[in-house]
Amino acid sequence: MPIFTISKEALVGTAALGAAFAAGVIIGKKRAPWHFGTRKEQKAFYKKGDPLIDYMLKHSMREHPVLKKLRRRTMEEPEGINMICCDQSQFMANLAKLICAKKVLEIGVFTGYNTLNMALALPDDGKVVGCEVNNDYINIGKPFWKQAGVEHKIDVRIKPAVETLDELLAAGEAGTYDFAFIDADKKSYIEYYEKCLRLVRKGGIIAIDNVFWKRKVLKPGKNDIECQTIQHLNEKILRDVRVNISMITMADGVTLAFKL
Ligand SMILES: C[S@@+](CC[C@H](N)C(=O)[O-])C[C@H]1O[C@@H](n2cnc3c(N)ncnc32)[C@H](O)[C@@H]1O
Repeated sequence: MPIFTISKEALVGTAALGAAFAAGVIIGKKRAPWHFGTRKEQKAFYKKGDPLIDYMLKHSMREHPVLKKLRRRTMEEPEGINMICCDQSQFMANLAKLICAKKVLEIGVFTGYNTLNMALALPDDGKVVGCEVNNDYINIGKPFWKQAGVEHKIDVRIKPAVETLDELLAAGEAGTYDFAFIDADKKSYIEYYEKCLRLVRKGGIIAIDNVFWKRKVLKPGKNDIECQTIQHLNEKILRDVRVNISMITMADGVTLAFKL
């Protein structure tokens, strides 16, 4: 009689994980499997192949099995690199839990890795309103949201984010969101920030992604509108008395604005 039992799925999963890790070691990469999902910007920010990042991921990631599947599916896409860093997503989901969030806004859903993470962090009657212009990405994510049992918490609006934010404001939803994540087209970041500030409640959080813009904020090019916009927003938020802030050296830089 066995001392412990293990399901066939778990056995296969463990064997596959072991094989993937061993393959990495054998070919000299020595990377934990979840490293495959991190973004170029993260690798650009930290020193290339920094073993500390591998250590951090190995010792902090508690990725839900469906998130892992979605990450791997997303990496099959040519634009897969656009996915959020998994450690950043886990951090924000923890923050959402900490403030007992029920309503979350996500500007730029892509295949919905972070949307799924947020939905998992919310209570059963919680809601993630997602803004996205490309329905093909949403169709990749949807089956995974369903598999994780949180599809009912996710409401993606396929249209330019500014239109969705205006609709939410017109519907009287100002001050009702607990958390907003800005991660879409950079040229609209200032507009997104202002609208999110109206939609988020006092004590709520606005997280802004890519605030280092691949380190280019240190010296934006003359015609680099995206970088210049991010730089302006960083300056604006620094002086914004409506919020407390932290700029986190995680991934490509994340600013957290806590609404006062
Ligand atoms: C960096 S990706 C978002 C990554 C995502 N947050 C995640 O968890 O992996 C940016 C997304 O913003 C979308 N996007 C770009 N412009 C937009 C707009 N004006 N309104 C809404 N979504 C937009 C893109 O189609 C893309 O899927």
